Order: sequence, then structure tokens, then C-alpha cells
Amino acid sequence: MLVQTQRQIATLLTAVVVTAMSGCGQSGFDSHFVSSDKTESLIKEAQNGVGDLPGVNELVSDRFGTPQQLNAWMKLPVDFGGVSGSVSAAPEASIAVEELSLKFDGEVIQVDSEPLLVQFVTGAAAPAVVEIKRWSAEKGVASLTAAMETLPAEGDTVILNGGSHLKTGRQLYMRHCSHCHGTSGDAAGPTAEYLNPRPRDYRHGVFKFTSTNAQSKAARDDIRRVLQNGVPGTYMPSFVPMLKDNELDIVVEYVRFLALRGEFERRLVSELAPDYSKDAMANRMASGETRSEVVNDLKEFLAEDLQDSIEGFMDGTNGLATVWTNANLPEATITPDAARVPNSAESRRIGRELYLSKAINCADCHGIGGKGNGPQTTIFEKNVVTETLYPEPGLHDVWDNVNQPRNLTLGIYRGGRRPIDLFCRIQAGIKGTRMPSFKNLKHEDIWHIVNYVLSIPFEPEPGKGPTPAPAAATTP
Ligand code: HEC
Ligand code: HEC
Repeated sequence: MLVQTQRQIATLLTAVVVTAMSGCGQSGFDSHFVSSDKTESLIKEAQNGVGDLPGVNELVSDRFGTPQQLNAWMKLPVDFGGVSGSVSAAPEASIAVEELSLKFDGEVIQVDSEPLLVQFVTGAAAPAVVEIKRWSAEKGVASLTAAMETLPAEGDTVILNGGSHLKTGRQLYMRHCSHCHGTSGDAAGPTAEYLNPRPRDYRHGVFKFTSTNAQSKAARDDIRRVLQNGVPGTYMPSFVPMLKDNELDIVVEYVRFLALRGEFERRLVSELAPDYSKDAMANRMASGETRSEVVNDLKEFLAEDLQDSIEGFMDGTNGLATVWTNANLPEATITPDAARVPNSAESRRIGRELYLSKAINCADCHGIGGKGNGPQTTIFEKNVVTETLYPEPGLHDVWDNVNQPRNLTLGIYRGGRRPIDLFCRIQAGIKGTRMPSFKNLKHEDIWHIVNYVLSIPFEPEPGKGPTPAPAAATTP
């Protein structure tokens, strides 16, 4: 039984291993992936495994690798880089083969300093990696630096320098991002604790400023836009022109890799936590079970039930591969069904009415004057996971930080100041925060609210201006 489980894991794990030492291991601080607090709330055996059976830490590192040896796990919807190809003729079945006929879907560029590494993805030779000494493009023949022992067959698929984006992405990330966002994307870089708001912890897989509807993940373009524009009003800088166009794309893939790693870990933990957290252990022992009974139980769970769940983590409707892929489809993008309503005094008046209305009640959080001081900001919230009250009043986000509703009188919009950006913020909400999605509002009404919100910085302060008619402050 166990042997079979191990084999299932092996087939699941088709991955290219990428040595990512150069230029990044030297960054000096925590060059290892850390586990989340949630993993640490599990009993040791669930974290580290029992006997031969891997626990959360190993299940994650088997698939994602370590910062020094990253895994390009093929199940992930990440563009790892590399040129795909296949064996174009089966080699003669001699004892050892030093020449191999291959065809590639892209150009093979041989740079002196970088070895050309071919990994077998399918067939008997997989997952062997061989090095090409010389590549003859005319003949489609690769001379290898060493003979192959297990022979591939015609049609077996290979990848040349697989994971090259992953490697470059990691190097760029370590240089430009990790001092805030942390090696693991856990927002615990050395500078992070001084920042408010804190850098994003990617491991929830949640990004705030997206062009996608409320249920969808961030699209690649959303993360890219944040890198291009930065997040105004926060320490998140813009990386244009520091990063070139293709470098931006590669960093986006690395951020997605870290986000997926974090989510994969969270899903594992959520399977284990109900019965194998430290708290669960205490409860089970209080009701008469012994520690070794619980651990035996865990053993069975790791060997069987958990393996079945892992299969489902990636594929299927809610699988991570599915949801991250779907976020890039046109269906996921917010498309207003009405053109922007012209910014007139009448439109701003309707917008303000909606803003203050009982049904919509933006003022409940943002305040009547838009200063971000509505009644909701004075209540004490309960953490939905631990069911305890937060020590400080105000709204909290999924990262457990106090999350002040935006002061709309300043005219600084983190997700961008174009009307369509504000439309998206209102239609889909701000993910991971208490700014809700108003997806049932008519799009025309959202435009009225956008017009009003954009006029708030120009409104006279209540009591100071001559006008109680709030929308008259700007001309269209
Ligand atoms: C000086 C610190 C700092 C550096 C350096 C930095 N960031 Fe950020 N980043 C932040 C902060 C702070 C936020 C959170 C803004 C917020 O919550 O509104 C953030 C947010 C983000 C987000 C989340 C946007 C969203 O929609 O939720 C992404 C993605 C991101 N950063 C990527 C990067 C990448 C990639 C790099 C390196 C190329 C980088 N950051 C460098 C501080 C930094
Ligand atoms: C339950 C509380 C709540 C309600 C209700 C609410 N908001 Fe927010 N809003 C927030 C919070 C919290 C943030 C800050 C989120 C962040 O970026 O971390 C925010 C941010 C915003 C932003 C800033 C966007 C940006 O790019 O910086 C705008 C604009 C906004 N809200 C408009 C509205 C409007 C308009 C309504 C009513 C249709 C509304 N909000 C209702 C809590 C709320």
C-alpha cells in the first residue's frame, strides 16, 4: 500500500529541478522557505512526517523545492521558461548513446557560459537530465557530454533549459523584492516591519487590486500593472524602467509561483488541522486518547486520505491550477455593460445619494465626508478563524492587519486612478479586505458613484464651504 502511494507521488511530481544558487543565495538573509504559522500550529509529526511518510514540510518541498533547488512542478499554471521538444528518432539500441535526434519548438541558443540541459519529461528516460555538448540545427542532432544509459523512444517529450524563467525570476525577486516581501513571499523581509501598510504576503494567493470579478484570482496583467505603477500611497514602488518588459513578465511568474506554494501549503494544513493541530491533540488527549493513538491515526491519514485530497488540490473546478488559469480568461475580466456616464453635477448628485443610502452605505466605513472614519471603524472585530476579538478597534484584512477604509478626500487610489480602476474596486471589492463587492449594483449606478468619489477631494469641508449641495464642487 505504502509503496504504491510513493509511486503515485512520483508520477505526480514531474518537475524540472532548477539550481538557482547564483546571485541569490548570497543575499545574506533567510535564504530558505519558511513554513506558515498555520503549519506550525500542527503537531510535529504532521509538520515533519512519521517514519517514511512525509508531513506538510516535505510535501511542499517535494513539489516546490528549496530556494537553492527550485522545482518547476509541471502541474503549476506557471510559465517556467525553456524550449519544449521531443525525440525525433529512437536511438539505436546500442549499450550507450552519445548522439540523439531531437526537434524543438523554438530556437536553441548556445551560450558558452550556460550549459544546454535537456530533461526527459515522458518515457523510460524521464526524469533524466543530459547535457548537450554540440547542437547541429541542420541535422537536428545533439551530441551529449555523456552517454545515456536508459534509452528514450521516438516522441518522448523533452524540455531544454526548463525552468529558466523560474531561475531568473528568483534572482530578480531576491534583488528587488525580497527585502520587503521575504524569500518565501511571506511579507517578512527585513524592511517589512517598518512599513504600513505591510508588504503583501503572497501565500494566501490573494491580491487586492485586480481587474477580475469578485470570485476570481488576480490575472497576470493585474500583478504586472502593480509592478509597473507601484501602489500609490504605499511603499510599493514602481519598477519601470528598472525592470525591462520581459523581466516584468518573469517576476510576475515568480510571484505566482510563491503564491501557489503558499496556497498549496495552506490547503494541506486545512486538511490536517481539524484532527492534528496542537489544540486538537490537547482536546483528544483530554477526552482519553493517548498520544500514540493520535499519531497512529495520523499515519493512516497521511498514507491514504491525504494523498487523495492532494490529487484534487490542482485540478477540478476549485483546483489551484484551474482557478489561476481561469483568472486570465476574458470571462473573468470586469467589463462594464454601460459606457461611463459623463461626469456631470447630476451624476455626482446621484452618486452621493447612493454613497449615503441605507442599502449601499459606503459612509458606514468611509464616513459621510469620505475621510475613512465611518462608524464601522470604531467597532472591535472578531477574528473569524480564532473567534477571538482583535485587540484594537477597526476593520481587519485576511492578513490580520488593521485595514483602514480609504480616506477618499485625498484622491490617492492604490489600485489606480482611472475611472475604470475605481469601477473595478467598487464592482469587485478589494480582495482580502473588508471593502465589499457591489456586484449587484447596476453598472450605470457604479459610474455615478465613481463620478462622486472622484469629486470628493474637491468638496468643501462640511461647515466650511457655502454649499450643502455636495456635488457642485467640480466642473465636468
Ligand atoms: C519597499 C518595500 C517594497 C518593495 C521593495 C516591493 N514591494 Fe511589493 N508591496 C509593498 C507594499 C507595502 C505592498 C502593499 C500595498 C497595499 O497593501 O496596499 C506591496 C504590494 C505588492 C503586491 C500586491 C498588489 C495587490 O494587488 O495586492 C505585489 C504583487 C507586489 N507588491 C509585488 C512586488 C514585487 C514583484 C516586487 C519586486 C519587483 C516588490 N513588490 C517590491 C512593498 C514593497
Ligand atoms: C465594510 C466597509 C466598507 C464599505 C461598506 C465600503 N468600503 Fe471602500 N474600502 C474599505 C476598506 C477597508 C478599504 C481599503 C482597502 C485596502 O486597500 O486595503 C476601502 C477602499 C476603498 C477605495 C480605495 C480604492 C483604491 O484604489 O485605493 C475606494 C475608492 C472605496 N473604498 C470606495 C467605496 C465605495 C464607493 C463604497 C460604497 C459603494 C465603499 N467603498 C464601501 C471598506 C469599505
